[in-house]
Amino acid sequence: MTRLLGKTALVTGAGAGIGRAVAERFAREGARVIIADRDADAAASVAAKIGDAARPAVVDISDEASVEAAYADLVAAGWSPDVVVANAGVQLFGQDAKAADLDLDVWRRTIDVNLTGTFLTVKHSVRAMRASGGGSIILTGSPTGLNGEGQDFTAYSASKAGIHGLARTVAAAYASDGIRVNTVVPAYTETGLVSTISDDPESRAAIVGRIPLGRAGSPADVEGIMVFLASADGEFATGALFAVDGGMTTL
Ligand SMILES: NC(=O)c1ccc[n+]([C@@H]2O[C@H](COP(=O)([O-])OP(=O)(O)OC[C@H]3O[C@@H](n4cnc5c(N)ncnc54)[C@H](O)[C@@H]3O)[C@@H](O)[C@H]2O)c1
Repeated sequence: MTRLLGKTALVTGAGAGIGRAVAERFAREGARVIIADRDADAAASVAAKIGDAARPAVVDISDEASVEAAYADLVAAGWSPDVVVANAGVQLFGQDAKAADLDLDVWRRTIDVNLTGTFLTVKHSVRAMRASGGGSIILTGSPTGLNGEGQDFTAYSASKAGIHGLARTVAAAYASDGIRVNTVVPAYTETGLVSTISDDPESRAAIVGRIPLGRAGSPADVEGIMVFLASADGEFATGALFAVDGGMTTL
């Protein structure tokens, strides 16, 4: 389990859920990992659990000054990442809605984190990677950005579709710099993000019923594809979208 030996990987939203599982797996694969999250306690506790191979970074991806300062600190400390998983995101359950009922403020708060925050993570990752000879950037997409899955979540679905488009554009723009950019699409995955669904048996059964493989996703389900894209095995993959979603986007 040393497929990422010698790599330094930054994972945003690594304080919980999918990001945490991916960061812990990367560390098990031999990488140094930067646990980047706006929740300082969560970042510190995940980093402490991993040990010397981890470094917490408190960063709000929707705030460019915060992202820029985090990268400056990492570069100065000799922890400039050659793998970045731009994973942090929000879903404003109870507020996000069908378009005619959606408040502009909810739209903006969702886009600010999910799309603008992912753009800012990409922007400063590319700057750091160009200076160090290349790298791999992995974005976290969603079935809601691909089909009609998110009809009650207009802002969230649009933010994820934006991420899918961003990945393709940035991949094309920086391939010649040795920077690869890909998107991973998880299924409905039982983390704190979606507790509104997982705590309600009827909603849960409805969404699991739309997953052909017949179960909800867990954060561990996307670890393998993330390792592939971060490692030399994925060196010819760029601009692509990898669904590891139990078949959810085939329906
Ligand atoms: N859970 C699902 O069903 C599912 C499905 C498809 C895609 N996704 C995507 O996967 C990613 C991770 O989701 P999750 O389910 O693990 O969520 P989660 O809520 O369990 O974890 C998200 C983490 O991101 C952090 N975060 C939120 N806003 C931030 C910001 N502005 N700056 C820095 N950190 C911030 C949170 O503090 C938290 O630690 C998200 O992009 C989400 O949209 C999730």
